[in-house]
Amino acid sequence: MSNKNKLVIFDTTLRDGEQSPGASMTKDEKLRIAKSLEKMKVDVIEAGFAIASQGDFESVKTIADTIRNSRICSLSRALDKDIDRAAEALRGAEASRIHTFIATSPIHMQYKLQMEPAAVVEQAVHAVKRARNYTDDVEFSCEDAGRSEIDFLCRIIEAAIDAGATTINIPDTVGYAIPDEFGRTIKTLLGRIPNADKAIFSVHCHNDLGLAVANSLSAVQNGARQVECTINGLGERAGNASLEEIVMAARTRVDLFDFDVNIDATQIVPCSRLVSTITGFPVQPNKAIVGANAFAHESGIHQDGILKHRETYEIMQAQDVGWHANSLVLGKHSGRSAFRARIEEIGITLESETALNEAFFAFKELADKKHEIFDEDLQALFSGTKVLGGNEHYSLVCLSVCSETGVIPVSKVTLLIDGEERTAQGSGSGPVDATYKAIESIVGSGVNLQLYSVNAITSGTDSQGEVTVRLELNGRIVNGLGADTDIVIASAKAYLHALNAMQGEDSKQHPQGDV
Ligand code: KIV
Ligand code: ZN
Repeated sequence: MSNKNKLVIFDTTLRDGEQSPGASMTKDEKLRIAKSLEKMKVDVIEAGFAIASQGDFESVKTIADTIRNSRICSLSRALDKDIDRAAEALRGAEASRIHTFIATSPIHMQYKLQMEPAAVVEQAVHAVKRARNYTDDVEFSCEDAGRSEIDFLCRIIEAAIDAGATTINIPDTVGYAIPDEFGRTIKTLLGRIPNADKAIFSVHCHNDLGLAVANSLSAVQNGARQVECTINGLGERAGNASLEEIVMAARTRVDLFDFDVNIDATQIVPCSRLVSTITGFPVQPNKAIVGANAFAHESGIHQDGILKHRETYEIMQAQDVGWHANSLVLGKHSGRSAFRARIEEIGITLESETALNEAFFAFKELADKKHEIFDEDLQALFSGTKVLGGNEHYSLVCLSVCSETGVIPVSKVTLLIDGEERTAQGSGSGPVDATYKAIESIVGSGVNLQLYSVNAITSGTDSQGEVTVRLELNGRIVNGLGADTDIVIASAKAYLHALNAMQGEDSKQHPQGDV
Protein backbone atom coordinates (compact mmCIF):
# COMPACT_ATOMS: atom_id res chain seq x y z
CA MET A 1 0.00 0.00 0.00
CA SER A 2 1.40 3.35 -1.01
CA ASN A 3 1.67 5.99 1.68
CA LYS A 4 1.15 8.82 -0.76
CA ASN A 5 -1.67 11.22 -0.05
CA LYS A 6 -4.95 10.01 -1.49
CA LEU A 7 -7.15 12.20 -3.65
CA VAL A 8 -10.75 11.06 -3.23
CA ILE A 9 -12.82 11.16 -6.43
CA PHE A 10 -16.46 11.85 -5.61
CA ASP A 11 -18.74 11.56 -8.63
CA THR A 12 -22.03 13.45 -8.63
CA THR A 13 -23.20 12.73 -12.20
CA LEU A 14 -26.31 11.02 -10.83
CA ARG A 15 -27.21 13.95 -8.54
CA ASP A 16 -25.81 17.32 -9.68
CA GLY A 17 -25.42 15.96 -13.24
CA GLU A 18 -29.08 15.09 -13.26
CA GLN A 19 -29.89 18.71 -12.38
CA SER A 20 -28.96 19.72 -15.96
CA PRO A 21 -32.22 20.61 -17.70
CA GLY A 22 -33.52 17.55 -19.52
CA ALA A 23 -30.91 15.15 -18.10
CA SER A 24 -33.26 13.22 -15.86
CA MET A 25 -32.61 9.49 -15.86
CA THR A 26 -34.64 6.44 -14.95
CA LYS A 27 -33.65 4.13 -12.10
CA ASP A 28 -32.26 1.55 -14.51
CA GLU A 29 -30.27 4.12 -16.41
CA LYS A 30 -28.80 5.40 -13.14
CA LEU A 31 -27.89 1.89 -12.13
CA ARG A 32 -26.08 1.33 -15.44
CA ILE A 33 -24.07 4.50 -14.89
CA ALA A 34 -23.35 3.56 -11.26
CA LYS A 35 -22.00 0.18 -12.42
CA SER A 36 -19.79 1.92 -14.93
CA LEU A 37 -18.51 4.31 -12.22
CA GLU A 38 -17.83 1.36 -9.94
CA LYS A 39 -15.87 -0.33 -12.72
CA MET A 40 -13.88 2.90 -13.05
CA LYS A 41 -13.13 2.61 -9.30
CA VAL A 42 -14.72 5.92 -8.33
CA ASP A 43 -14.35 6.30 -4.55
CA VAL A 44 -17.74 7.87 -3.79
CA ILE A 45 -20.87 7.86 -5.96
CA GLU A 46 -23.50 10.45 -5.07
CA ALA A 47 -26.50 8.45 -6.24
CA GLY A 48 -29.17 11.12 -5.78
CA PHE A 49 -31.22 13.21 -3.39
CA ALA A 50 -33.37 10.58 -1.71
CA ILE A 51 -36.14 12.88 -0.50
CA ALA A 52 -36.62 14.58 -3.90
CA SER A 53 -39.20 12.04 -5.10
CA GLN A 54 -40.16 8.39 -4.79
CA GLY A 55 -38.17 7.76 -8.00
CA ASP A 56 -35.04 9.34 -6.53
CA PHE A 57 -35.42 7.34 -3.32
CA GLU A 58 -35.70 4.10 -5.28
CA SER A 59 -32.70 4.95 -7.44
CA VAL A 60 -30.50 5.63 -4.41
CA LYS A 61 -31.76 2.46 -2.74
CA THR A 62 -31.20 0.24 -5.78
CA ILE A 63 -27.69 1.59 -6.26
CA ALA A 64 -26.92 1.20 -2.55
CA ASP A 65 -28.23 -2.39 -2.63
CA THR A 66 -26.21 -3.29 -5.74
CA ILE A 67 -22.86 -1.50 -5.80
CA ARG A 68 -20.23 -3.08 -3.58
CA ASN A 69 -16.93 -1.41 -4.41
CA SER A 70 -17.70 2.32 -4.22
CA ARG A 71 -19.13 4.26 -1.29
CA ILE A 72 -22.74 5.34 -1.98
CA CYS A 73 -23.90 8.76 -0.90
CA SER A 74 -27.24 10.55 -0.78
CA LEU A 75 -27.66 14.29 -0.56
CA SER A 76 -29.92 15.77 2.11
CA ARG A 77 -30.66 19.29 3.22
CA ALA A 78 -29.92 19.97 6.89
CA LEU A 79 -33.39 18.74 7.81
CA ASP A 80 -34.38 15.71 9.89
CA LYS A 81 -36.81 14.36 7.28
CA ASP A 82 -34.13 14.56 4.53
CA ILE A 83 -31.50 12.84 6.64
CA ASP A 84 -33.87 10.06 7.72
CA ARG A 85 -34.92 9.44 4.13
CA ALA A 86 -31.30 9.36 2.94
CA ALA A 87 -30.42 6.89 5.68
CA GLU A 88 -33.35 4.66 4.76
CA ALA A 89 -32.32 4.60 1.09
CA LEU A 90 -28.72 3.82 2.00
CA ARG A 91 -29.49 1.02 4.45
CA GLY A 92 -28.33 -1.78 2.11
CA ALA A 93 -25.03 -0.16 1.16
CA GLU A 94 -21.71 -1.82 1.81
CA ALA A 95 -20.29 1.65 2.55
CA SER A 96 -22.54 4.70 2.83
CA ARG A 97 -22.28 8.46 3.27
CA ILE A 98 -24.88 11.05 4.16
CA HIS A 99 -24.13 14.42 2.58
CA THR A 100 -25.93 17.23 4.32
CA PHE A 101 -25.73 20.91 3.43
CA ILE A 102 -26.92 24.38 4.30
CA ALA A 103 -26.21 27.75 2.71
CA THR A 104 -23.60 29.95 4.38
CA SER A 105 -23.30 33.07 2.21
CA PRO A 106 -24.89 36.31 3.47
CA ILE A 107 -27.10 36.52 0.36
CA HIS A 108 -28.42 32.94 0.75
CA MET A 109 -28.89 33.19 4.52
CA GLN A 110 -30.75 36.49 4.29
CA TYR A 111 -32.94 35.93 1.21
CA LYS A 112 -33.27 32.17 0.76
CA LEU A 113 -33.11 30.76 4.27
CA GLN A 114 -34.19 33.95 6.06
CA MET A 115 -32.16 32.81 9.02
CA GLU A 116 -29.62 34.42 11.30
CA PRO A 117 -26.06 33.03 11.05
CA ALA A 118 -26.23 31.58 14.60
CA ALA A 119 -29.35 29.59 13.68
CA VAL A 120 -27.64 28.30 10.55
CA VAL A 121 -24.73 26.99 12.65
CA GLU A 122 -27.16 25.38 15.07
CA GLN A 123 -29.07 23.67 12.26
CA ALA A 124 -25.85 22.43 10.65
CA VAL A 125 -24.64 20.93 13.93
CA HIS A 126 -27.99 19.27 14.55
CA ALA A 127 -28.01 17.80 11.02
CA VAL A 128 -24.49 16.40 11.25
CA LYS A 129 -25.25 14.81 14.62
CA ARG A 130 -28.44 13.27 13.32
CA ALA A 131 -26.63 11.88 10.27
CA ARG A 132 -23.91 10.43 12.51
CA ASN A 133 -26.57 8.31 14.21
CA TYR A 134 -26.90 6.43 10.92
CA THR A 135 -23.34 6.30 9.55
CA ASP A 136 -19.86 7.26 10.63
CA ASP A 137 -19.21 8.84 7.21
CA VAL A 138 -20.89 12.26 7.10
CA GLU A 139 -20.15 15.05 4.69
CA PHE A 140 -21.13 18.62 5.43
CA SER A 141 -21.31 21.26 2.67
CA CYS A 142 -21.42 25.02 3.05
CA GLU A 143 -23.59 25.91 0.08
CA ASP A 144 -22.34 29.01 -1.77
CA ALA A 145 -19.06 28.86 0.16
CA GLY A 146 -17.47 30.68 -2.80
CA ARG A 147 -19.37 33.82 -1.71
CA SER A 148 -19.35 33.20 2.04
CA GLU A 149 -17.37 35.20 4.62
CA ILE A 150 -14.23 33.43 5.71
CA ASP A 151 -14.80 34.04 9.44
CA PHE A 152 -18.26 32.52 9.23
CA LEU A 153 -16.96 29.54 7.23
CA CYS A 154 -14.33 28.91 9.93
CA ARG A 155 -16.99 29.07 12.64
CA ILE A 156 -19.52 26.74 11.02
CA ILE A 157 -16.92 24.24 9.78
CA GLU A 158 -15.28 23.95 13.21
CA ALA A 159 -18.71 23.30 14.72
CA ALA A 160 -19.59 20.73 12.02
CA ILE A 161 -16.35 18.81 12.58
CA ASP A 162 -16.96 18.86 16.35
CA ALA A 163 -20.41 17.45 15.67
CA GLY A 164 -18.89 14.54 13.71
CA ALA A 165 -18.53 15.58 10.05
CA THR A 166 -15.74 13.57 8.43
CA THR A 167 -15.66 15.43 5.12
CA ILE A 168 -16.09 19.19 4.74
CA ASN A 169 -17.10 20.32 1.29
CA ILE A 170 -16.50 23.84 -0.01
CA PRO A 171 -18.79 24.36 -3.01
CA ASP A 172 -18.45 27.22 -5.43
CA THR A 173 -22.16 26.88 -6.05
CA VAL A 174 -22.53 29.70 -8.57
CA GLY A 175 -19.15 29.28 -10.29
CA TYR A 176 -17.91 32.68 -9.12
CA ALA A 177 -14.41 31.86 -7.86
CA ILE A 178 -11.07 32.43 -9.58
CA PRO A 179 -8.38 29.72 -9.16
CA ASP A 180 -5.82 31.66 -7.15
CA GLU A 181 -8.46 33.09 -4.82
CA PHE A 182 -10.22 29.74 -4.36
CA GLY A 183 -6.94 27.99 -3.57
CA ARG A 184 -6.19 30.65 -0.96
CA THR A 185 -9.60 30.12 0.64
CA ILE A 186 -8.84 26.41 1.12
CA LYS A 187 -5.41 27.15 2.52
CA THR A 188 -6.83 29.74 4.95
CA LEU A 189 -9.54 27.37 6.16
CA LEU A 190 -7.05 24.56 6.72
CA GLY A 191 -4.69 26.92 8.52
CA ARG A 192 -7.26 28.65 10.73
CA ILE A 193 -9.74 25.95 11.77
CA PRO A 194 -8.29 24.27 14.86
CA ASN A 195 -9.81 20.83 14.23
CA ALA A 196 -9.30 20.88 10.41
CA ASP A 197 -7.04 17.82 10.63
CA LYS A 198 -10.06 15.73 11.78
CA ALA A 199 -11.78 15.96 8.36
CA ILE A 200 -11.01 15.68 4.67
CA PHE A 201 -11.54 18.95 2.82
CA SER A 202 -13.41 18.67 -0.44
CA VAL A 203 -14.34 21.04 -3.26
CA HIS A 204 -17.34 21.15 -5.57
CA CYS A 205 -16.95 23.71 -8.35
CA HIS A 206 -19.44 24.88 -10.94
CA ASN A 207 -18.39 25.98 -14.39
CA ASP A 208 -20.25 29.25 -14.94
CA LEU A 209 -17.00 31.04 -15.80
CA GLY A 210 -15.41 27.94 -17.32
CA LEU A 211 -13.13 27.62 -14.27
CA ALA A 212 -14.51 24.59 -12.43
CA VAL A 213 -11.56 22.29 -13.16
CA ALA A 214 -8.96 25.05 -12.64
CA ASN A 215 -10.56 26.02 -9.31
CA SER A 216 -10.68 22.40 -8.16
CA LEU A 217 -7.03 21.80 -9.04
CA SER A 218 -5.97 25.00 -7.31
CA ALA A 219 -7.85 23.81 -4.22
CA VAL A 220 -6.04 20.46 -4.38
CA GLN A 221 -2.69 22.24 -4.56
CA ASN A 222 -3.72 24.06 -1.41
CA GLY A 223 -4.76 21.05 0.63
CA ALA A 224 -8.16 19.79 -0.59
CA ARG A 225 -8.17 15.98 -0.75
CA GLN A 226 -11.55 15.28 -2.34
CA VAL A 227 -12.86 16.62 -5.63
CA GLU A 228 -16.53 16.45 -6.55
CA CYS A 229 -17.00 16.12 -10.27
CA THR A 230 -19.17 14.66 -13.02
CA ILE A 231 -18.66 12.67 -16.20
CA ASN A 232 -18.48 15.01 -19.22
CA GLY A 233 -18.78 17.96 -16.80
CA LEU A 234 -22.56 17.50 -16.69
CA GLY A 235 -24.38 19.49 -14.00
CA GLU A 236 -26.56 22.40 -13.01
CA ARG A 237 -26.33 25.30 -15.55
CA ALA A 238 -22.83 25.27 -17.11
CA GLY A 239 -22.06 22.06 -15.24
CA ASN A 240 -19.56 20.81 -12.68
CA ALA A 241 -15.84 20.10 -12.85
CA SER A 242 -15.35 17.24 -15.26
CA LEU A 243 -14.10 13.98 -13.73
CA GLU A 244 -12.03 13.03 -16.75
CA GLU A 245 -10.20 16.37 -16.78
CA ILE A 246 -9.47 16.30 -13.04
CA VAL A 247 -8.22 12.71 -13.13
CA MET A 248 -6.07 13.14 -16.23
CA ALA A 249 -4.62 16.46 -15.03
CA ALA A 250 -3.57 14.76 -11.79
CA ARG A 251 -2.16 11.75 -13.70
CA THR A 252 -0.39 13.75 -16.39
CA ARG A 253 1.09 16.34 -14.01
CA VAL A 254 2.13 13.93 -11.32
CA ASP A 255 5.06 16.31 -10.71
CA LEU A 256 2.48 18.72 -9.25
CA PHE A 257 -0.18 16.28 -8.02
CA ASP A 258 1.66 13.46 -6.29
CA PHE A 259 -1.44 11.64 -5.08
CA ASP A 260 -2.95 8.20 -5.18
CA VAL A 261 -5.90 8.48 -7.56
CA ASN A 262 -7.70 5.17 -7.55
CA ILE A 263 -9.41 5.57 -10.93
CA ASP A 264 -9.09 3.05 -13.78
CA ALA A 265 -8.76 5.66 -16.51
CA THR A 266 -9.37 3.15 -19.32
CA GLN A 267 -13.03 3.22 -18.28
CA ILE A 268 -13.33 6.97 -18.89
CA VAL A 269 -14.32 6.96 -22.58
CA PRO A 270 -16.83 4.08 -22.27
CA CYS A 271 -18.43 5.79 -19.26
CA SER A 272 -18.50 9.16 -21.02
CA ARG A 273 -20.31 7.58 -23.97
CA LEU A 274 -22.76 5.83 -21.70
CA VAL A 275 -23.62 9.08 -19.90
CA SER A 276 -23.98 10.93 -23.17
CA THR A 277 -26.21 8.21 -24.65
CA ILE A 278 -28.41 8.02 -21.59
CA THR A 279 -28.81 11.74 -20.95
CA GLY A 280 -28.90 12.85 -24.57
CA PHE A 281 -26.17 15.42 -23.92
CA PRO A 282 -23.71 15.04 -26.79
CA VAL A 283 -20.01 15.55 -26.10
CA GLN A 284 -18.54 18.40 -28.14
CA PRO A 285 -15.80 17.16 -30.53
CA ASN A 286 -13.11 19.38 -28.99
CA LYS A 287 -13.93 18.44 -25.38
CA ALA A 288 -10.74 17.52 -23.50
CA ILE A 289 -10.10 13.78 -23.01
CA VAL A 290 -13.48 12.47 -24.26
CA GLY A 291 -14.22 14.61 -27.34
CA ALA A 292 -13.88 12.91 -30.73
CA ASN A 293 -11.01 15.25 -31.67
CA ALA A 294 -9.19 15.11 -28.33
CA PHE A 295 -6.46 12.89 -29.76
CA ALA A 296 -6.82 13.66 -33.49
CA HIS A 297 -3.88 15.46 -35.05
CA GLU A 298 -4.89 17.29 -38.19
CA SER A 299 -1.92 19.43 -39.11
CA GLY A 300 0.90 17.93 -41.16
CA ILE A 301 3.54 19.37 -38.79
CA HIS A 302 1.92 17.66 -35.80
CA GLN A 303 1.49 14.35 -37.62
CA ASP A 304 5.12 14.42 -38.73
CA GLY A 305 6.28 15.20 -35.17
CA ILE A 306 4.16 12.41 -33.70
CA LEU A 307 5.49 9.87 -36.15
CA LYS A 308 9.07 10.83 -35.26
CA HIS A 309 8.50 10.94 -31.52
CA ARG A 310 5.02 10.71 -30.00
CA GLU A 311 5.68 13.01 -27.05
CA THR A 312 6.43 15.96 -29.36
CA TYR A 313 2.72 16.73 -29.45
CA GLU A 314 0.99 14.18 -27.21
CA ILE A 315 0.90 14.46 -23.43
CA MET A 316 -1.39 11.46 -22.90
CA GLN A 317 -2.09 8.30 -24.83
CA ALA A 318 -5.56 7.81 -26.25
CA GLN A 319 -5.71 4.18 -25.12
CA ASP A 320 -4.95 5.18 -21.50
CA VAL A 321 -8.39 6.80 -21.27
CA GLY A 322 -10.17 4.04 -23.15
CA TRP A 323 -10.13 5.22 -26.75
CA HIS A 324 -9.87 2.43 -29.31
CA ALA A 325 -10.79 0.02 -26.54
CA ASN A 326 -13.85 -1.07 -28.43
CA SER A 327 -13.30 -3.98 -30.71
CA LEU A 328 -15.80 -5.82 -32.81
CA VAL A 329 -17.96 -7.49 -30.21
CA LEU A 330 -20.90 -9.21 -31.83
CA GLY A 331 -22.21 -10.00 -35.27
CA LYS A 332 -25.11 -11.46 -37.19
CA HIS A 333 -24.31 -14.99 -36.09
CA SER A 334 -23.85 -14.31 -32.38
CA GLY A 335 -26.20 -16.27 -30.18
CA ARG A 336 -28.32 -15.34 -27.18
CA SER A 337 -25.74 -16.29 -24.58
CA ALA A 338 -22.98 -14.25 -26.26
CA PHE A 339 -25.44 -11.36 -26.49
CA ARG A 340 -26.45 -11.66 -22.84
CA ALA A 341 -22.82 -11.94 -21.67
CA ARG A 342 -21.80 -8.86 -23.65
CA ILE A 343 -24.64 -6.65 -22.45
CA GLU A 344 -23.94 -7.70 -18.87
CA GLU A 345 -20.30 -6.76 -19.45
CA ILE A 346 -21.42 -3.21 -20.35
CA GLY A 347 -23.63 -3.01 -17.29
CA ILE A 348 -27.07 -3.98 -18.60
CA THR A 349 -28.93 -6.67 -16.71
CA LEU A 350 -32.28 -7.77 -18.04
CA GLU A 351 -34.50 -9.07 -15.31
CA SER A 352 -36.90 -11.19 -17.34
CA GLU A 353 -36.69 -13.65 -20.22
CA THR A 354 -39.26 -11.54 -22.09
CA ALA A 355 -37.01 -8.48 -21.86
CA LEU A 356 -34.04 -10.56 -23.04
CA ASN A 357 -36.05 -11.95 -25.97
CA GLU A 358 -37.18 -8.48 -26.98
CA ALA A 359 -33.67 -7.08 -26.79
CA PHE A 360 -32.22 -10.05 -28.67
CA PHE A 361 -34.79 -9.60 -31.42
CA ALA A 362 -33.86 -5.90 -31.74
CA PHE A 363 -30.17 -6.87 -31.83
CA LYS A 364 -30.78 -9.41 -34.63
CA GLU A 365 -32.70 -6.82 -36.64
CA LEU A 366 -29.80 -4.41 -36.25
CA ALA A 367 -27.19 -7.07 -37.08
CA ASP A 368 -29.06 -7.79 -40.33
CA LYS A 369 -28.65 -4.16 -41.37
CA LYS A 370 -25.24 -3.50 -39.86
CA HIS A 371 -22.92 -6.47 -39.75
CA GLU A 372 -20.46 -5.29 -37.12
CA ILE A 373 -22.00 -4.49 -33.74
CA PHE A 374 -19.89 -2.50 -31.27
CA ASP A 375 -20.51 -1.70 -27.60
CA GLU A 376 -21.79 1.74 -28.61
CA ASP A 377 -24.41 0.08 -30.83
CA LEU A 378 -25.52 -2.07 -27.92
CA GLN A 379 -25.77 0.93 -25.59
CA ALA A 380 -27.85 2.75 -28.20
CA LEU A 381 -30.08 -0.29 -28.61
CA PHE A 382 -31.20 0.17 -25.02
CA SER A 383 -31.50 3.93 -24.86
CA GLY A 384 -35.02 5.15 -25.33
CA THR A 385 -36.59 1.71 -25.40
CA LYS A 386 -39.06 0.10 -23.07
CA VAL A 387 -36.82 -2.97 -22.65
CA LEU A 388 -35.20 -1.35 -19.62
CA GLY A 389 -38.43 -0.24 -18.09
CA GLY A 390 -38.93 3.09 -19.90
CA ASN A 391 -42.46 4.39 -20.32
CA GLU A 392 -43.79 3.67 -23.83
CA HIS A 393 -47.12 5.39 -24.19
CA TYR A 394 -46.36 6.16 -27.87
CA SER A 395 -44.46 3.73 -30.07
CA LEU A 396 -43.55 3.72 -33.72
CA VAL A 397 -45.21 1.05 -35.86
CA CYS A 398 -44.07 2.16 -39.30
CA LEU A 399 -42.83 5.11 -41.23
CA SER A 400 -42.48 5.85 -44.92
CA VAL A 401 -40.97 8.98 -46.37
CA CYS A 402 -40.91 10.34 -49.87
CA SER A 403 -37.99 12.69 -50.49
CA GLU A 404 -36.98 13.77 -53.96
CA THR A 405 -35.17 16.79 -55.43
CA GLY A 406 -37.60 19.57 -56.28
CA VAL A 407 -40.56 17.96 -54.47
CA ILE A 408 -41.84 18.77 -50.96
CA PRO A 409 -41.04 15.77 -48.70
CA VAL A 410 -43.97 13.84 -47.32
CA SER A 411 -43.94 11.42 -44.41
CA LYS A 412 -46.57 8.86 -43.39
CA VAL A 413 -46.35 7.66 -39.80
CA THR A 414 -48.26 4.97 -37.89
CA LEU A 415 -48.09 5.04 -34.09
CA LEU A 416 -49.39 2.66 -31.46
CA ILE A 417 -51.11 4.57 -28.66
CA ASP A 418 -52.63 2.56 -25.83
CA GLY A 419 -53.10 -0.46 -28.08
CA GLU A 420 -54.66 1.53 -30.92
CA GLU A 421 -52.94 2.25 -34.25
CA ARG A 422 -53.19 5.79 -35.61
CA THR A 423 -51.82 6.96 -38.95
CA ALA A 424 -51.19 10.46 -40.30
CA GLN A 425 -49.30 12.20 -43.02
CA GLY A 426 -47.23 15.39 -42.87
CA SER A 427 -45.17 17.49 -45.23
CA GLY A 428 -42.24 19.72 -44.37
CA SER A 429 -38.99 21.32 -45.41
CA GLY A 430 -37.18 17.98 -45.15
CA PRO A 431 -38.01 14.35 -44.30
CA VAL A 432 -37.44 14.87 -40.57
CA ASP A 433 -39.61 17.99 -40.48
CA ALA A 434 -42.34 16.13 -42.40
CA THR A 435 -42.12 13.20 -39.95
CA TYR A 436 -42.39 15.45 -36.90
CA LYS A 437 -45.40 17.19 -38.42
CA ALA A 438 -47.04 13.81 -39.05
CA ILE A 439 -46.39 12.73 -35.45
CA GLU A 440 -47.74 16.02 -34.10
CA SER A 441 -50.90 15.72 -36.14
CA ILE A 442 -51.56 12.45 -34.29
CA VAL A 443 -50.48 13.39 -30.76
CA GLY A 444 -51.09 17.18 -30.73
CA SER A 445 -48.68 17.64 -27.85
CA GLY A 446 -47.91 21.32 -28.45
CA VAL A 447 -44.26 20.87 -27.42
CA ASN A 448 -41.47 23.20 -28.58
CA LEU A 449 -38.49 21.54 -30.21
CA GLN A 450 -35.48 23.20 -28.59
CA LEU A 451 -32.69 21.06 -29.94
CA TYR A 452 -32.21 18.51 -32.69
CA SER A 453 -28.85 16.88 -33.30
CA VAL A 454 -27.63 13.79 -35.08
CA ASN A 455 -24.36 11.91 -34.58
CA ALA A 456 -22.91 8.78 -36.11
CA ILE A 457 -22.47 6.22 -33.32
CA THR A 458 -19.57 4.40 -34.95
CA SER A 459 -17.67 5.03 -38.19
CA GLY A 460 -18.74 4.14 -41.73
CA THR A 461 -21.86 4.89 -43.73
CA ASP A 462 -23.60 1.83 -42.26
CA SER A 463 -23.25 3.34 -38.79
CA GLN A 464 -26.35 3.94 -36.71
CA GLY A 465 -27.30 7.59 -36.48
CA GLU A 466 -28.12 8.69 -32.96
CA VAL A 467 -30.57 11.54 -32.76
CA THR A 468 -31.03 13.73 -29.69
CA VAL A 469 -34.01 16.03 -29.32
CA ARG A 470 -34.90 18.40 -26.50
CA LEU A 471 -38.57 19.26 -26.07
CA GLU A 472 -40.12 21.90 -23.85
CA LEU A 473 -43.68 22.13 -22.60
CA ASN A 474 -44.84 24.70 -20.01
CA GLY A 475 -41.28 25.13 -18.73
CA ARG A 476 -40.60 21.42 -18.40
CA ILE A 477 -37.68 20.19 -20.50
CA VAL A 478 -37.01 16.60 -21.53
CA ASN A 479 -34.48 14.95 -23.81
CA GLY A 480 -35.16 12.09 -26.18
CA LEU A 481 -32.81 9.73 -27.95
CA GLY A 482 -33.26 7.41 -30.86
CA ALA A 483 -30.83 5.29 -32.84
CA ASP A 484 -31.23 3.55 -36.17
CA THR A 485 -29.27 2.97 -39.35
CA ASP A 486 -31.96 5.18 -40.98
CA ILE A 487 -31.72 8.67 -39.51
CA VAL A 488 -35.35 9.58 -40.24
CA ILE A 489 -36.46 6.56 -38.21
CA ALA A 490 -33.90 7.50 -35.51
CA SER A 491 -35.41 11.01 -35.50
CA ALA A 492 -38.93 9.65 -35.06
CA LYS A 493 -37.79 7.37 -32.24
CA ALA A 494 -36.02 10.26 -30.47
CA TYR A 495 -39.12 12.44 -30.68
CA LEU A 496 -41.35 9.68 -29.32
CA HIS A 497 -38.84 8.89 -26.58
CA ALA A 498 -39.02 12.52 -25.44
CA LEU A 499 -42.83 12.56 -25.65
CA ASN A 500 -42.90 9.40 -23.53
CA ALA A 501 -40.57 11.03 -20.99
CA MET A 502 -42.99 13.98 -20.81
CA GLN A 503 -45.63 11.54 -19.58
CA GLY A 504 -43.39 10.43 -16.72
CA GLU A 505 -42.74 11.77 -13.23
CA ASP A 506 -42.63 15.54 -12.99
CA SER A 507 -42.85 16.54 -9.36
CA LYS A 508 -39.41 16.33 -7.95
CA GLN A 509 -37.93 18.66 -5.38
CA HIS A 510 -34.82 20.58 -6.30
CA PRO A 511 -32.29 20.26 -3.45
CA GLN A 512 -31.39 23.93 -3.58
CA GLY A 513 -34.97 25.18 -3.80
CA ASP A 514 -37.08 26.38 -0.90
CA VAL A 515 -36.63 24.53 2.36
O1 KIV B 1 -23.45 23.40 -5.88
C1 KIV B 1 -23.71 23.12 -4.69
O2 KIV B 1 -23.57 23.92 -3.77
C2 KIV B 1 -24.24 21.80 -4.42
C3 KIV B 1 -24.32 21.41 -2.99
C4 KIV B 1 -25.61 20.80 -2.66
C5 KIV B 1 -23.15 20.56 -2.63
O3 KIV B 1 -24.53 21.06 -5.33
ZN1 ZN C 1 -23.58 21.73 -7.23
